[in-house]
Amino acid sequence: MTTQLSITTPDDWHLHLRDGNALNTTVPFSAKQFQRAIVMPNLAQAITNTDRALAYRQRILDAAPEGNSFQPLMVLYLTDDTSVVDIKQASESKHIVAAKLYPAGATTNSSNGVTNITRLAPIFNAMQTDGILLLVHAEVVDSNVDIFDREQVFIDKHLCAIRRDFPQLRIVLEHATTQQGIQFVEESNNTAATLTPQHLLFNRNDLLVSGIRPHNYCLPVLKRETHRQALVKAATSGSPKFFLGTDSAPHATQAKETNCGCAGCFTAHAAIELYTEVFEKEDALDKLEGFCSFYGADFYGLPRNKSTITLIKKQWSAPEHYSFGEQTLTPFRQETPLSWKLQT
Ligand code: NCD
Ligand code: ZN
Repeated sequence: MTTQLSITTPDDWHLHLRDGNALNTTVPFSAKQFQRAIVMPNLAQAITNTDRALAYRQRILDAAPEGNSFQPLMVLYLTDDTSVVDIKQASESKHIVAAKLYPAGATTNSSNGVTNITRLAPIFNAMQTDGILLLVHAEVVDSNVDIFDREQVFIDKHLCAIRRDFPQLRIVLEHATTQQGIQFVEESNNTAATLTPQHLLFNRNDLLVSGIRPHNYCLPVLKRETHRQALVKAATSGSPKFFLGTDSAPHATQAKETNCGCAGCFTAHAAIELYTEVFEKEDALDKLEGFCSFYGADFYGLPRNKSTITLIKKQWSAPEHYSFGEQTLTPFRQETPLSWKLQT
């Protein structure tokens, strides 16, 4: 039995750090295990241009522990008003590597997202030319589409067309949750997907059986077991099209344990441990390093990290809460002990 494991320092290719006071909680958790992170731009005031992205990057760096070399990689938030000039400017800054497509209304802080995807053609064209990746929240928002079908419908209705029309555009299907999402990525060139710990570990029963569990609620919502199994198979297959993206998305405990709770699981307190558990259960620890530390960097065209981290097989439990500005934050998988611990 493996009881100690060293891998190249991983990167998180999908992360929500929030802003203000929250950064003092979120940044150290990610910085202790990840060298780089793709920082999602869905702040209350969205990161829609280069100036905002660079100012936000500086606030993140200011919140990193002394001497830590955590590197935030910034993302532009696409709106109906994004211009080709916005893309050009972003591509001239080495700190901005991607732009995120949120269908308006699909998730947290997406009200300024895109309402008409076909009108973004000139933007996608500029991104393709300038080497800016397209990151997609792949869910339709039509009220007549069942929430469990929203990923598949988005792929059929929108993603297939974008893929066909901009063949050189590098696309990441963010937080893939379905068998159909996996299949789309496998069959498409220049296309990859991030996979979250919650979608690899849990299915929708973990959200809804024996009481509703707000800290397991995120978007896209957890799916049925067959989908979870397809994700695990993809993650542990050794395919470079699938890589780590936690989608760690903190909301204050009160904002989740309420009448209309926010979507998002805070997983950054134990992200690498959660992934290690998934790979160990599949007897695929030999595939962990590629998924966590190599394939994301390769897809983004960035160098692989040189340093390493070490994990120890050891039971521990996350605390009930962490402090989060004036409020508290309830970590994901708080109820049952974790089986690996990052050595610090
Ligand atoms: C994310 C958030 O809260 O910012 N929530 C979530 O459930 N994943 C947004 C997102 O990635 O959809
Ligand atoms: Zn997210």
